[in-house]
Amino acid sequence: MESPLLFLITLLCFLQSLLVASHNLSKSSTICKTTPDPKYCKTVFPHSQGNVQQYGRFSIRKSLSQSRKFIRTVDKYLKRNAHASPPAVTRALQDCRFLAGLTMDYLLTSFETVNETSTFKTLSFPKADDVQTLLSAALTNEQTCLEGLTTAASSSATWTVRNGVALPLVNDTKLFSVSLALFTKGWVPKKKKRAGYPWAHPSSGTSTHTKPFRLFRNGALPLKMTERTKAVYESLSRRKLTDGAGDGDDGSMVLISDIVTVIQDGTGNFTNITAAVGAAPNNTDGSGGFFLIYVTAGIYEEYVSIAKNKRYVMMIGDGINQTVVTGNRSVVDGWTTFNSATFAVTAPNFVAVNITFQNTAGPEKHQAVALRSGADFSIFYSCSFEAYQDTLYTHYLRQLYRECDVYGTVDFIFGNAAVVFQNCNLYPRKPMPNQFNAITAQGRSDPNQNTGTSIQNCTIRPADDLVLSNYTVETYLGRPWKNYSRTVIMESYIDGFVEPVGWREWNGDFALSTLYYAEYNNTGPGSNTTNRVTWPGYHVINSTDAANFTVTGLFLEDDWIWKTGVPYTSGTNLTAYDVVQKYKLPRGILPEGVIDYDLNPKTGFFKVYLNNTCRFPIEVYKVKYQPIVSGFIKNGRVSRLKGVSVKVLYFWLSIGEVTSDGQELELSVGAASEEFSAHQFARSPQCGCGFYCRELKFSS
Ligand SMILES: *[C@@H]1O[C@H](CO)[C@@H](O)[C@H](O)[C@H]1NC(C)=O
Ligand SMILES: *[C@@H]1O[C@H](CO)[C@@H](O)[C@H](O)[C@H]1NC(C)=O
Ligand SMILES: *[C@@H]1O[C@H](CO)[C@@H](O)[C@H](O)[C@H]1NC(C)=O
Ligand SMILES: *[C@@H]1O[C@H](CO)[C@@H](O)[C@H](O)[C@H]1NC(C)=O
Ligand SMILES: *[C@@H]1O[C@H](CO)[C@@H](O)[C@H](O)[C@H]1NC(C)=O
Ligand SMILES: *[C@@H]1O[C@H](CO)[C@@H](O)[C@H](O)[C@H]1NC(C)=O
Ligand SMILES: *[C@@H]1O[C@H](CO)[C@@H](O)[C@H](O)[C@H]1NC(C)=O
Ligand SMILES: *[C@@H]1O[C@H](CO)[C@@H](O)[C@H](O)[C@H]1NC(C)=O
Ligand SMILES: *[C@@H]1O[C@H](CO)[C@@H](O)[C@H](O)[C@H]1NC(C)=O
Ligand SMILES: *[C@@H]1O[C@H](CO)[C@@H](O)[C@H](O)[C@H]1NC(C)=O
Ligand SMILES: *[C@@H]1O[C@H](CO)[C@@H](O)[C@H](O)[C@H]1NC(C)=O
Ligand SMILES: *[C@@H]1O[C@H](CO)[C@@H](O)[C@H](O)[C@H]1NC(C)=O
Repeated sequence: MESPLLFLITLLCFLQSLLVASHNLSKSSTICKTTPDPKYCKTVFPHSQGNVQQYGRFSIRKSLSQSRKFIRTVDKYLKRNAHASPPAVTRALQDCRFLAGLTMDYLLTSFETVNETSTFKTLSFPKADDVQTLLSAALTNEQTCLEGLTTAASSSATWTVRNGVALPLVNDTKLFSVSLALFTKGWVPKKKKRAGYPWAHPSSGTSTHTKPFRLFRNGALPLKMTERTKAVYESLSRRKLTDGAGDGDDGSMVLISDIVTVIQDGTGNFTNITAAVGAAPNNTDGSGGFFLIYVTAGIYEEYVSIAKNKRYVMMIGDGINQTVVTGNRSVVDGWTTFNSATFAVTAPNFVAVNITFQNTAGPEKHQAVALRSGADFSIFYSCSFEAYQDTLYTHYLRQLYRECDVYGTVDFIFGNAAVVFQNCNLYPRKPMPNQFNAITAQGRSDPNQNTGTSIQNCTIRPADDLVLSNYTVETYLGRPWKNYSRTVIMESYIDGFVEPVGWREWNGDFALSTLYYAEYNNTGPGSNTTNRVTWPGYHVINSTDAANFTVTGLFLEDDWIWKTGVPYTSGTNLTAYDVVQKYKLPRGILPEGVIDYDLNPKTGFFKVYLNNTCRFPIEVYKVKYQPIVSGFIKNGRVSRLKGVSVKVLYFWLSIGEVTSDGQELELSVGAASEEFSAHQFARSPQCGCGFYCRELKFSS
């Protein structure tokens, strides 16, 4: 029997769909008002009426055909200029060709997705987020190509390249921006992050709030291998794979499909990384697990580029400073910033662990990238990035850096990805005299791009050479590379060497009112925000706003991280006490089997009292972790808990309990955010599996 509330909602939805059908036809001039460049937008559409989705599909299809045209143009110039042009111009053209190929892929996927909506109307939130991500990347590709060309082809001898290739790009960039704007308006829910319902998320098997926390550190991972693969891994790493954490059927272990080894003395499968990457299977869907490349200790002097078809590669080294990939290409020596990278990856779902990536060109060679990632769902865990200007190019798409060290000088973390740095060390170094350091130079160029750099629970300290420097160096948290530059620093330690104003202009008042820079709950002598810049785009934010830049805030979905075994924090670091106070958790709403809890405002710890028939989610762990957890559940009471951490998932708050020996126990103590009234719990599918639904008692 449907509840009256549900019926009302159904009715409202029905009425709304009628309204959509009859009232949303508009002239292009009306639709174009919502795009960044209305004047250009109007030139895109023929004079007709349509709704925003029809215009959106048209624009994306047109972007696709323009992109095909552009590839033909670049190919023509590459052929004609192969020998005539300076190498720098050829390289810039090659970048453009490479990027245009990727752009085609992104636009094609986007078009196929929106094309389906002519029959199936709506997109799920994650799918809409995927397309917004791809269209954001397509736009960044145009800019990357344009910038490379402008730098390389600055002399009059190369004006044909500029006119022939760079000029059409200007309009294409505008067209892509229109596509992104219309897609965002037509398909992306306005308050997608907050307004989502957990049951509206198609979960791939494991639902988010039943995942146990992972407590691995320093590059350790819960890998699951065949006997043969395991033997190779264990003999090389001199480490035993940990057993007993689970059998992997619930996704708690990370499956490895095969292993190849890179050993410089010739006793492994390969002596260099490039050859090993070549052996990885093409275009796997990951269902068989990751292809593991074990790179043993050594200095690898090679330029590695992992092409888009080498999906699901996991590269493990022997540790930071042990396995080192090094190179020294730079802009001064005739490379573009883009192709100066020592190590570059485009393949989705790439994971690197325990490796140092270097560019040793030095500060006098200006832009010289150590690592560039344009790989969707790429993760770097316990890695080090060492260079000077432009060390780490987080080009675009979705990325996570966990427990990494990043060394550099000018703009040393830059690009336009949606990227979170968690528990990392950022080390500004000594630049050239008269230079200043900027830790970030985020490159968001369009208000509809869903990108940004988030730095969470990191440590910002000077590198040794900066400490010992015999001249004064100013260090800033960041500066706006592009108009809508977006960077958030939260829960991090900022040492006193960072300038009190915090942030630096790029050029006059460029971007100062369109950028978004924010700080939240940082510590350390450099974290005092009293004397910070007063730009319109600078903010000291609260936890609600900061939540938009956590893993679940920025990425919407975190399954891709979970599947790699890499530990991560999905929300902000709140204690259980913070959460319960903040959201005024009604005592009546408790997980099934939880009778009551105590909160300690001093420590933030809480104790949970259970009855003996607790079925969710304890049961899961009874099965999986019985030997460990049983010791802690006695007479319906969980005790001797060492730490407490809290995940804020959409509007669910899962309060996770960490037991003293490193094993994990998570209790979903369902609580509501402001937008989610307690009454709505009754509609949750978790009813009967975690929550008393029929007997909800509300104390507020
Ligand atoms: C777009 O959808 C139509 C049917 O609605 C189909 O015939 C066409 O092949 C689709 N195009 C692409 C590129 O998927
Ligand atoms: C760019 O688009 C505008 C408006 O449609 C047009 O007038 C102009 O000629 C185009 N420029 C190029 C180089 O195609
Ligand atoms: C990375 O190195 C650390 C420290 O040597 C080690 O504990 C960890 O297991 C390594 N990770 C992997 C996946 O081998
Ligand atoms: C790698 O080397 C091992 C041991 O020499 C061998 O069994 C395996 O087949 C090799 N793998 C590949 C992909 O060559
Ligand atoms: C990498 O090793 C392969 C053979 O395994 C060899 O053919 C190739 O030249 C090597 N590349 C470099 C850059 O050393
Ligand atoms: C992957 O595809 C390339 C061509 O793109 C081919 O040369 C190579 O042999 C393939 N590798 C594997 C492991 O199938
Ligand atoms: C790696 O080596 C550098 C330079 O010697 C040193 O500063 C750094 O602490 C080392 N990193 C680790 C994690 O050992
Ligand atoms: C934050 O980083 C510190 C190391 O700097 C680490 O000890 C702590 O556990 C981290 N907190 C979280 C919630 O990961
Ligand atoms: C500063 O130190 C550098 C070496 O790092 C040295 O070459 C230079 O002469 C020193 N300059 C001064 C003014 O002491
Ligand atoms: C900020 O972090 C501190 C711990 O470093 C914590 O005590 C405090 O409650 C946090 N503030 C907010 C607003 O979350
Ligand atoms: C921050 O700086 C201002 C001005 O220098 C000072 O008055 C204030 O006490 C500082 N706050 C903290 C928490 O140190
Ligand atoms: C956080 O700040 C925003 C403004 O940026 C404000 O709208 C919101 O109400 C604040 N939330 C809380 C819980 O204070």
